[in-house]
Amino acid sequence: MNDEHLPRPMATYRLAVLPGDGTGREVMREALRILSVFDENSPASFDINEIPCGGQYYLETGEEWPKGSFEYCRDESDAILLGAIGWPDARLPNGDMAGGQTILGLRSGLELYANVRPVKLYAGVTHKVHGVHKQVWNPDLVDIIMIRENTEGLYHSLLRRMEQRALGKKDEPIVIEEFPGLDGEVAWDPRPISRDGSERVIRFAFDYAKHRQRKTGASQSVTCVDKSNVTRGCQLFRKIFREFAERNPDIAVKEAYIDAFTMWLVRNPEDLDVVVLPNMFGDIATDLASVLQGGMGMSASANMGPKHMLFEPVHGSSPKHAGKNVVNPIAMIQSVQMMFEALAFRKKDQNLDTCAEILQSAIQKHFEEGGIVTYDLGGTASTSEVGQAIAMRCESMLKERFP
Ligand code: IPM
Ligand code: MN
Repeated sequence: MNDEHLPRPMATYRLAVLPGDGTGREVMREALRILSVFDENSPASFDINEIPCGGQYYLETGEEWPKGSFEYCRDESDAILLGAIGWPDARLPNGDMAGGQTILGLRSGLELYANVRPVKLYAGVTHKVHGVHKQVWNPDLVDIIMIRENTEGLYHSLLRRMEQRALGKKDEPIVIEEFPGLDGEVAWDPRPISRDGSERVIRFAFDYAKHRQRKTGASQSVTCVDKSNVTRGCQLFRKIFREFAERNPDIAVKEAYIDAFTMWLVRNPEDLDVVVLPNMFGDIATDLASVLQGGMGMSASANMGPKHMLFEPVHGSSPKHAGKNVVNPIAMIQSVQMMFEALAFRKKDQNLDTCAEILQSAIQKHFEEGGIVTYDLGGTASTSEVGQAIAMRCESMLKERFP
């Protein structure tokens, strides 16, 4: 019997939707359009709770998001979708970014320790190494999974302050230390890197490489990027990386210092499969890497923790483009795709996995077949036109798969 005639189990997923600031709100509209197509045409359904938040919301209301929002994300959602956070001049009284509670408070408070940022160039998309859309690369050259540590390192103090705020607690008092040889006003951020924090993200990277190896049949490497010639935190990070390398003889390993890595990344992206980096290096290197895949409008991410997951485009709220319906919604839509994949994996939902495949192939075919694109990819289409085009492709594929 054909499996299409078997009864289809229905699963409902509770989603916390956080559009945030600026263009985050515009790309989130397209994510919701895609979700409604899957909700109507597949066995999966989505129970959506949209929560206003961010720097703009703070300027309007004096709060970063409504009370109880952190608890809702923690206790009552299966996954969180975030647009973008950050708005010029939206600052908390202590100088921290307003809205940070949403993105950084959740990363810290829900232990979203692995920030997974795929860097993949689709056929039909041109990279932006020269800032213009001239040179076409073989897409096989760029297919990297960058995994950024997401809960410590140089972000540690800010993450903890934001978590305190999200939990409604007072910020920890700042301890003043002396810095020998420095006079006058000094500001600093400690950069703690722990064994536990490093082990969990490095384990995640090796598991990811093994998963990819099984799924694609192509052998995978994990590259450790650090600055262990200079910093102690990175020395610990690399020591732990080597422990995992020894325990995983089936996975090839590479090591690089972040400075040389940036050059290597642009020059020979084909050398890289899975890459694991401490927090701030991962923040910087993934913006750089996005030029290999057509720019920030193309880079999606998953923030994964032991129990929770949050999906967001890597780009920010781009105030100068906000309100114009011109930015590329693909990074957001691809983040929805990552959410389908991760939820399907964790909840063992075969139907949702099929949805993930359908959305992936809709995105891929859209570019392969020369579908409309926004200005950043050399086109003139609007945010909503691109969202609509992808949604329509999904709809027809879904009707065929789930008649
Ligand atoms: C990112 C962003 C954030 C970060 C900002 C908005 C706090 O740049 O997700 O990469 O620095 O992590
Ligand atoms: Mn960033």
